[in-house]
Amino acid sequence: MLIAGNWKMYKGPVEAAAFCRALRELDFGGCDVVVCPPFVSLAAAVAALAGTEIAVAAQNVHWATEGAFTGEVSAPMLHELGVYGAIVGHSERRQLFGETDETVARRVRAALDHHLGVIACVGETDAEREAGETEAVLTRQVEAIAAAAPERDELVIAYEPVWAIGTGKTATPELAQEAHAWIKSLLPVPVLYGGSVKPENAAALAAQPDIDGALVGGASLELESFASLCREAAGA
Ligand code: 13P
Repeated sequence: MLIAGNWKMYKGPVEAAAFCRALRELDFGGCDVVVCPPFVSLAAAVAALAGTEIAVAAQNVHWATEGAFTGEVSAPMLHELGVYGAIVGHSERRQLFGETDETVARRVRAALDHHLGVIACVGETDAEREAGETEAVLTRQVEAIAAAAPERDELVIAYEPVWAIGTGKTATPELAQEAHAWIKSLLPVPVLYGGSVKPENAAALAAQPDIDGALVGGASLELESFASLCREAAGA
C-alpha cells in the first residue's frame, strides 16, 4: 500500500523540516510513504528524512533539462536534490495552470529519463461524469501517459476525480474501484485513489482490489491524521 501526501502550497522549509522530523517517529502500519512538499521545501524534507524509508517527491517537473523556462524546475535538478520522483498532471495544474495531455506526457517522459518515479494524475470533472464521459476522459488521459512511458517502470497513476478533491465528497469505494479497473485495463500499473481521503474512509477504499494506495491532500498536512490514515489503509 503506497500512501503519498500532496502538501500542495503548504509548509515552507522550516515547517517542513519539523514535520518530517516528527514523521520519523510515527507508525505507518507498514505502508510505503511519500511526502510531496512545495519545491522550496524539498531539500529540507530530504535532509530531515535521510536514512528513513519515507520518500520525498516534487509536485511537478519540467520536460527540459535546462533553459529559459521562468518558474520551472527540471528533472536533473530534482534528482540532484535526492528527490525520489514527482507528481505530474495534477488536476489543479490542468485546471488552473493550463496543463494539457501533451504537456503531461512530456513531463512524464522527462522524469523517467532522469530516473525519477512518476505519480501521474488523471480524473474527470463533475460535468464530465454527469455527461457520462468518465471512461472517455480517463481513456484520453491515460493513453497520453501510456504513450510517453512504454516501459512503465517507476510509473504510478493517481485517479483523482476532480469533484472529490478538497470537497469532502469522496468517491464511494465501488465507484473508485470501477474507475481503477478501467484505468488498469488501459495501463497495468499501480493506481492510487485521491480525493478527500481521510482516516475514516481509508480502510474501505484500500479494501478494493484495484486500489493500491492513496494520494492525500488535506489529511496529509497533520501528523496524526496522516499516520492514522496510513494505518487504516494498511489494515484493510
Ligand atoms: P484532498 O485530499 O484534500 O481532497 O486532495 C486530494 C488531492 O488533490 C491530492 O493530490
